[in-house]
Amino acid sequence: MSQLKTAVSHLDDLPSTPGKFKPDKPTPYVQRMRFHSKLTLWSCFVAFILLFFFLTSSPGSTPSSSRRALGSDTWGGREWERRVSRSSRKRSDGGLTVLVTGAAGFVGTHVSIALKRRGDGVLGLDNFNHYYDTNLKRARQKLLERAGVFIVEGDINDASLLQKLFDVVAFTHVMHLAAQAGVRYAMQNPGSYVHSNIAGFVNLLEVCKSANPQPSIVWASSSSVYGLNSKVPFSEKDRTDQPASLYAATKKAGEEIAHTYNHIYGLSITGLRFFTVYGPWGRPDMAYFFFTKDILKGKPITIFEAPDHGTVARDFTYIDDIVKGCLAALDTAKKSTGSGGKKKGPAQLRIFNLGNTAPLPVTELVSILEKLLKVKAKRQVLPMPRNGDVKFTHANISSAHTELGYRPTTDLETGLKKFVRWYLHYYSGEKKKSAW
Ligand SMILES: NC(=O)c1ccc[n+]([C@@H]2O[C@H](COP(=O)([O-])OP(=O)(O)OC[C@H]3O[C@@H](n4cnc5c(N)ncnc54)[C@H](O)[C@@H]3O)[C@@H](O)[C@H]2O)c1
Ligand SMILES: *[C@@H]1O[C@H](CO)[C@@H](O)[C@H](O)[C@H]1NC(C)=O
Repeated sequence: MSQLKTAVSHLDDLPSTPGKFKPDKPTPYVQRMRFHSKLTLWSCFVAFILLFFFLTSSPGSTPSSSRRALGSDTWGGREWERRVSRSSRKRSDGGLTVLVTGAAGFVGTHVSIALKRRGDGVLGLDNFNHYYDTNLKRARQKLLERAGVFIVEGDINDASLLQKLFDVVAFTHVMHLAAQAGVRYAMQNPGSYVHSNIAGFVNLLEVCKSANPQPSIVWASSSSVYGLNSKVPFSEKDRTDQPASLYAATKKAGEEIAHTYNHIYGLSITGLRFFTVYGPWGRPDMAYFFFTKDILKGKPITIFEAPDHGTVARDFTYIDDIVKGCLAALDTAKKSTGSGGKKKGPAQLRIFNLGNTAPLPVTELVSILEKLLKVKAKRQVLPMPRNGDVKFTHANISSAHTELGYRPTTDLETGLKKFVRWYLHYYSGEKKKSAW
């Protein structure tokens, strides 16, 4: 289990704030020169530059500027603009015009298709990073193409690209799903979380607040913000100040950043705390997905148990239920109130749990998979490492129920049946293709 080994975080080498940066031992030369104040200024400056480059670059995704310098830029031009406009065109007057970030992702694909099907204008944006198998992202892209949704290839940190998109299309809504997901990967690549979930989110909000008209924003937070909170079920008002992973911390930061942009610029913002979403076209880094893969291969699977043999449970939520919640959030979002980058009045700021309210032990998930796959799993039970996962999640969804009419209807067995059917079909197709 290589992911359990803590990679040395390069974030640790950076000062938390430039002002705090102090070299351990001043060199004699430094002492002699006594340019202390000057040096502090310079170290602030250097630290700031370092931080800037750190935020604008990341191993997971190429910054657009360098990509452009390499001449392999994939956006721009008349044909590109035509595709952007056509994808964003809605079928009816009442419809929405939505920019979906992370559209080649699991949730983004499902939400984009659902919006397009009911007649809304939809434009996707995704950087197709290599966090997991990009073939799967490309296959989802094909699915979207067939549905009439174009995915612009680019990073949410690319301000000029976002600006361009808002110049070409008057988006009424932004469905922001692009993020660095995954809890354990944060120990390997902390910078990617800062890059996408914090710097990227801020960049997106900056462009949204300056857009005319400002769009309404719905974005994905996470149940992981509840962290070490042990009061169940998790309600929106419960404490969220004890994140157990950097992923959770960046989602929590996003919620605070959302508050700021709502407060200063009058952006209407709705955050959705998803609880362990699963289903067809899902994410290969999630347990239900790689358990399926490993069970079929006859490989042992690792099931974690909480301290003193406690069960680890999750409030597994089926993708179709999440999609309904996302669409309801878009439909009930009030307009942003600012214009020309200035706030004109108070704007809507909401946060909702989107879960299933039926937490099940992970062992139960495995039993259902065994039944559906007709293969016995080789279970290996280990104590849960303290690397970001929490013991238990359980959503209180009464608020989403009242405000969004959200009511999940798919139980784990029904949902997994659909996942397994998709999985077998998708990967048998892959095999056929590679055999050719
Ligand atoms: N799936 C879950 O169980 C779950 C639970 C809680 C929260 N969420 C959140 O929901 C959202 C969608 O999750 P998902 O499961 O579909 O994940 P996903 O990884 O499948 O989708 C995210 C997509 O965003 C893209 N992306 C990442 N960084 C980007 C960037 N800087 N610029 C442009 N595109 C970028 C990725 O290429 C990917 O296709 C994420 O914000 C995630 O944190 C998901
Ligand atoms: C669920 O949340 C609502 C507020 O949205 C609260 O009134 C209710 O008491 C909560 N229920 C439980 C069981 O915690």
